[in-house]
Amino acid sequence: MKKLFNKKSIPLLLQEAQANEHGLKKTLGMWSLIALGIGAIIGAGLFVNTGRAAAEAAGSGVTLSFAVAAIGCAFAGLCYAEFASTIPIAGSAYTYSYATLGEIVAWIIGWSLVMEYALGAATVSIAWSEYLNNLLGGAIPYEWCHSPFEHKVVGKSTINGIMNLPALSILAILTLLLIKGTQESAIINGIMVFIKVAIVLIFIVVGWSYIKPENHTPYLIPESTIGHEGIFKWGWGGVLGGAAIVFFAFIGFDAVSTAAQEAKNPKRDMPIGILGSLIVCTILYILFAHVLTGIAHWSEFSKGGAGGEASVSYVIKKMVGFEWLGTSVNIAILAGFSSVILVMLMGQTRVFYSMSNDGLLPKLFSVLHPKFKTPYKSNLILLLMVGGFAAFIPGSVAGNLTSFGTLFAFVIVCAGIIMMRKNFPQLERPFKTPLVPLVPILGILVCLAMIVALDLTTLSVAAVWMLVGLLIYFGYSKHHSKLRNDAEK
Ligand code: ALA
Repeated sequence: MKKLFNKKSIPLLLQEAQANEHGLKKTLGMWSLIALGIGAIIGAGLFVNTGRAAAEAAGSGVTLSFAVAAIGCAFAGLCYAEFASTIPIAGSAYTYSYATLGEIVAWIIGWSLVMEYALGAATVSIAWSEYLNNLLGGAIPYEWCHSPFEHKVVGKSTINGIMNLPALSILAILTLLLIKGTQESAIINGIMVFIKVAIVLIFIVVGWSYIKPENHTPYLIPESTIGHEGIFKWGWGGVLGGAAIVFFAFIGFDAVSTAAQEAKNPKRDMPIGILGSLIVCTILYILFAHVLTGIAHWSEFSKGGAGGEASVSYVIKKMVGFEWLGTSVNIAILAGFSSVILVMLMGQTRVFYSMSNDGLLPKLFSVLHPKFKTPYKSNLILLLMVGGFAAFIPGSVAGNLTSFGTLFAFVIVCAGIIMMRKNFPQLERPFKTPLVPLVPILGILVCLAMIVALDLTTLSVAAVWMLVGLLIYFGYSKHHSKLRNDAEK
């Protein structure tokens, strides 16, 4: 039983990081890391969920919802920053929990990170496919851009989805790019981040003069509003309800920490990358939400309302003289989604890489390409896995599981900081989480509250997912664990 909680020693981890010359290449500087973070953060959450959160719960107060979600993420972000600067090894929350909470917890976290990154990439690739079709005016036949579980009725006949080919294609293209090299991927990611941030900024600057103050009054949804019965659907409760919806927009800042081993100067740049991208995105999100709900009233974004679908395009149509922005926004959204998928796929292979190095997954996952020095076999296996989800499963199923996996990892990382401070007080910490244990405890509470707020189906599927993970652990990983085998020698 005790062996289940075997911990990897931190000095050993640091040695492994130093003896890395045959491993992943160190190519990422401070700006690449910030871009990596922004790359993973700005995506479907901003462009799709802002309007939804305003209409369903927060009204114009969706700006405050973004602030609340950001505060929740900041608690976890501060903990991630300490870990990533102290133990700069690929694998993120998985590696940290191996050192602080033991092997079985590390396995569970590794397994939930698959939910965050692999399912996250699948969810966003499905959204990518929808937007591409939108940009092409619906030219892709329904059957080839929907899963077999979806159908639509046209007149008297029903069209069934066969597979989501565009989603599969974007995953394949980005996988090839990732195999080609981390630096190449970082360059393409940088270009995509530039495009999406530029369009978000243009939207904010141009849109500002179209804000009508009456759309912001009252700022929160009044109590008596029809269809808003329930504490999380109006007023300050609605701001919290909105925070749960826009939380998805922040997922990804932790992906920076998966690339710790490829950072040139991780001790300094990891905290800057994680917290910097979080701050930049929070500011952009609040301004974006302010403009969106200022140009159109929040009620226009409700389901069935005029701006209920593609809320951003709807608002741009009201900006007389700037209709061209509509197409640019669509392109920015495609670029934005691509960079989210890219960083998620990269994060997932880096977690697999660490798990495989530790013997918990087969060697296959840590074999590096002889020339490109990237875990190409792992990339290809992941393509099969994520591609399978994206091609055959509806997007709505994957989204909430992504949030669960992320929140769960956040809770463990926050708890890990408290343990690490207790067990390794002497360790050199280039970045220190402030106010320990208050900040980690607040992080745990906020994230647990958001987990509890998830729907029952998500929680049940997540429980089954965990069970499958435990079967793999007891069937394979436990017997191949390097730490366990070394101890028994
Ligand atoms: N934060 C990412 C997005 O909003 C997952 O698409």
